[in-house]
Amino acid sequence: MRVLVTGGAGYIGSHTVLALLETGHDVLVVDDLSNSSEESLRRVAELAGREARFVQANVRDAAALDAAFAGFSPDAVIHFAGWKAVGESTQIPLTYYRENLGSTFTLLEAMAAHDCHQIVFSSSATVYGELSEPPFTEDSPTGATNPYGRTKHMIEQILADAAAADAELRVAVLRYFNPIGAHASGRIGEDPKGIPNNLLPFVAQVATGRRDKLMVFGDDYPTPDGTGLRDYIHVVDLAAGHLAALDYLGGHGGFHVWNLGTGDPKSVLDIVHAYEGASGVAIPYEIVARRPGDVAASYADVTRAHKELGWQARKSVEQACEDTFRWQSENPDGFADS
Ligand code: UFG
Repeated sequence: MRVLVTGGAGYIGSHTVLALLETGHDVLVVDDLSNSSEESLRRVAELAGREARFVQANVRDAAALDAAFAGFSPDAVIHFAGWKAVGESTQIPLTYYRENLGSTFTLLEAMAAHDCHQIVFSSSATVYGELSEPPFTEDSPTGATNPYGRTKHMIEQILADAAAADAELRVAVLRYFNPIGAHASGRIGEDPKGIPNNLLPFVAQVATGRRDKLMVFGDDYPTPDGTGLRDYIHVVDLAAGHLAALDYLGGHGGFHVWNLGTGDPKSVLDIVHAYEGASGVAIPYEIVARRPGDVAASYADVTRAHKELGWQARKSVEQACEDTFRWQSENPDGFADS
């Protein structure tokens, strides 16, 4: 297939582009590099032995997108591009709505104009909020508690409406739980700018001495060790989920939603201990107050993806920690090293 990947230079995007190239698909990445690096695509090409085409553009740029579709004639789109920091989204909500919703409109219009009828969208388990108890199934109630989450929830609804209005349009919404890990080669991985918001990149920087200690946000949750429970999924497993969703859309019309997680919750301290095991380094930490907006537990019921896509997560958090440690040790400054 010919697959246009927005945000393909980013963390999940680059691992998915690699999987697409390895499977024999042709890929065009559209990415404005606002939170990613073209070096990730050079390394993907080196690992795959072939290149993805690349256009540096914001997905809201209709003229650039039109030219990309005209030159590449994609059969399908995977839409990763988007702003994704929960805290930041409460500070600059309009930017989040403009970028995340605007890019989706431009993309859907370009698809319609160029006879492309399949889209896989990066959504998030954040849409489950605190409306019900985990494990969450795809039919659990959805909503959102911050502007970032609302953009994901709104885009899901926009895609459902677009699919209902156009019998040709095929949509896969993938609700990611907590992506972690890196490619086993140590060549590509997560390269957060500034102070990482997420647990594993922060722990990784404590292990290399770039940060003093981890702040554990609360140990008084109603969970086995009192710290938050999440469903951490290896990014290589997540990438494979996108290929499974594309395959499914090849044979099925309509609008579909799948959770991509492991179904096996881990606490913050489980992750700390797994990273200590992988790195051989003690991770100093301090228990501090809960982080506003955090839920006690979020994990998936993964039955539907298993049944319908024949997909399941295979890698453990220990493997993810080993892979992150390799990536972090070999690239202490991320892609800026090269
Ligand atoms: N945590 C700490 N210290 C840190 C960072 C995180 O204790 O420095 C804890 C959090 O309190 C939480 C767990 O580690 O219990 C995971 O936190 P992350 O920030 O890594 O991930 P979240 O589950 O909060 O957020 C992730 C994505 C969001 C998405 C959300 C729900 O980053 O984009 O899942 O799907 F919205």
